[in-house]
Amino acid sequence: MKKFSAVLIAIFMLIFAAGCGENSGGRSHSNLIGITLPDQTVRRWIKDGDHMKELLEKKGYHVDLEYAENNIDMQISQIDDMIKHGAKCIVVSAVDSTKLLDVLNKAKKNNIPVIAYDRLLMDTDAVSYYATFDNKGVGILMGEYVENKLGLKEGKGPYNVEFFAGSHDDNNAHFVNSGVFEVLQPYIDKGQLIVPSGQTDFDLICTLRWSQEVAQKRMDHILAEYYKDDKKVDAVIVPNDRIGYGIGNSLANAGYKVGENWPLITGQDAELQAARYILSGRHAMTVFKDTRVLAEKCVNMIEAVLNGTEPEINDTTSFDNHKFVVPAYLCTPVVLDKNNVKEILVGSGYYTEAALESNEN
Ligand code: BGC
Repeated sequence: MKKFSAVLIAIFMLIFAAGCGENSGGRSHSNLIGITLPDQTVRRWIKDGDHMKELLEKKGYHVDLEYAENNIDMQISQIDDMIKHGAKCIVVSAVDSTKLLDVLNKAKKNNIPVIAYDRLLMDTDAVSYYATFDNKGVGILMGEYVENKLGLKEGKGPYNVEFFAGSHDDNNAHFVNSGVFEVLQPYIDKGQLIVPSGQTDFDLICTLRWSQEVAQKRMDHILAEYYKDDKKVDAVIVPNDRIGYGIGNSLANAGYKVGENWPLITGQDAELQAARYILSGRHAMTVFKDTRVLAEKCVNMIEAVLNGTEPEINDTTSFDNHKFVVPAYLCTPVVLDKNNVKEILVGSGYYTEAALESNEN
């Protein structure tokens, strides 16, 4: 009988422990904050997530940090789970925000405030605030970099250029692209920039899910089709570092050599690999968006919505998501090239010098 009771107690303890385990494992929790980010391939999202988690945990919140790995259904079920587990606030950087309408409505019905992180949530009123970078500004910085390096203001040219844009379902891709063309379109019109492929429309130059492979294939095709007979590409306007890796592969396969006839390649995100490529001359520049700053702004928004106060906002006009103009905080992007990449990234502690000199990602 004694033995039997001991077994019963053990079973009870196990069940109890399992229940606790669920609570302490990022699920139902009295001060749970849910965060879902698009993927881990683009390395910045890992920094965004880690930093938000760290800041929130320091303040005593419990964080469920998820990555959707570019899978729309996975992101829907992540948000659904966060709602089920009673999240107090949900931070979303959408894979494709137009597919999240139902689950965001569900959050709203459950009185859970949602904050759009980096990417705007379109077509919904179930979003309180938007924390991001000046994405049009990112494109302007890329355009101006090319303008300066090619001496376009001084009337130099003609140069052969090709354009790439981000994913059509990411509002940021449109903003970045509008910044690029605001600066460079006048030079296309004047004939200082020539686009041998003829592809400048967003629908032709966009890259689904910002995929390196998709971009590389398109570049392979462009080089094979429009750069026959020794024609050379002088600049490729590339919307983020990862797409730049694909463009670089394609150029190398076609025989271009860094330091000889390598074109100017732009980028965004200041990934470790891109920083190394800038130092080696493979990429010309990247636009650095300090994810630590963005994470901090977002955490301030979370606290404000939970405390019923107003967060710091610096834009109330730019982000019409087709339902309303979402109040936003825009952080400032910074250009990095070989002259300042190490100083800024290592100097600010974004990366260590050892990481920059290693092979890690
Ligand atoms: C972000 C970029 C990122 C891209 C691909 C965009 O929404 O603003 O920083 O490179 O998504 O993940």
